[in-house]
Amino acid sequence: MTLSANLLDWYDRNRRELPWRIDKDPYKIWVSEIMLQQTRVEAVKEYYTRWLRRFPTPYELAAAEEEEVLYYWQGLGYYNRARNLQAAMSEVCAAYGGEIPNDEAALKALPGIGEYTAGAILSIAFDCRTPAVDGNVLRIFSRLFYVTEDITKSKTKRLISRLVSEYISLERPGDFNQALMDLGAMVCIPQTPRCAECPVLDFCQAYALDVQCTLPVKPAAKAPRELTLVAGIIQRGGEYLIRRRPSGNVLAGMWEFPAIEICDESCEKATLEQFIYTQFALKVLVQEKAFNYVHIFSHLKWYINFYHCQCFTGEVLFQDTQWIALSEWENITWAGPHRKAAEALWKNSVGGGPAA
Ligand code: ADE
Repeated sequence: MTLSANLLDWYDRNRRELPWRIDKDPYKIWVSEIMLQQTRVEAVKEYYTRWLRRFPTPYELAAAEEEEVLYYWQGLGYYNRARNLQAAMSEVCAAYGGEIPNDEAALKALPGIGEYTAGAILSIAFDCRTPAVDGNVLRIFSRLFYVTEDITKSKTKRLISRLVSEYISLERPGDFNQALMDLGAMVCIPQTPRCAECPVLDFCQAYALDVQCTLPVKPAAKAPRELTLVAGIIQRGGEYLIRRRPSGNVLAGMWEFPAIEICDESCEKATLEQFIYTQFALKVLVQEKAFNYVHIFSHLKWYINFYHCQCFTGEVLFQDTQWIALSEWENITWAGPHRKAAEALWKNSVGGGPAA
């Protein structure tokens, strides 16, 4: 049996039943691939189903307000993925009558579509023999073919892409690519590959040399930059002040309790009072700490301290700020940890016990 036949035979017996494998609608495959780029399969399932209920075709997505699109994405992170998906569907509707093009160059010209995503859509939805090389495939092929070069280098990616092109199934290219995804998730896993269960063990050069755990080769990850922030929970007559994060910042366009980065934790209360006064023209007294959370992005780590604030003055409202009732917390597109804070405040207010 060939590598491809062994892999597909294994896939037919062991494949994961996933909601985006039910049909081959290219729009649905596209949505799933974008969601899956930085997020675990288990976490994506629910988002995917909810998304398709609200945006079942490119038309509904293209017509929606960006804020609603972000609302359906919130919690998945990397929000440019959602913005790009919407921009791409606007182009698909305008230029292709709502039909996803079955063409590599046309797909790659659309926002958010790179080599991997184009390959995945073309192979899974249209049965094209295009590789879809993600981290799983880089790991599997670097082991199979004993590739010892750094897999983060474009040259190594091109080499592996050529190898996949050589071995990809003629009849079932989409299943071949998805079989690699499942193999990478269940068998050829990073630190402790389960070689005894591997359907392509006979082809694995790294296994033959007993070096599978040393591959793939990649440089050590850089530690994320750490920031400390202080946020004010400003209450006035049962409502809370929130503001939309300015553009050009991480989590731009999403809502938060007013927050500012601090350099010196010993004066965080004074810094917060000053910030709220200069930004929102509100005089507040910063009181006790409500919560502190750590939120990790790929390149950034936020330590964020939330303080209750007593508000003395002010009706002034600026653009991109609003007073909300806590009961609305679920309808807001929150910036990361601010959602947790809002949920905890709401639960406390309705007697749900201590904050998380
Ligand atoms: N990861 C990325 N794409 C996937 C898919 N189609 N199935 C399972 N895992 C994936």
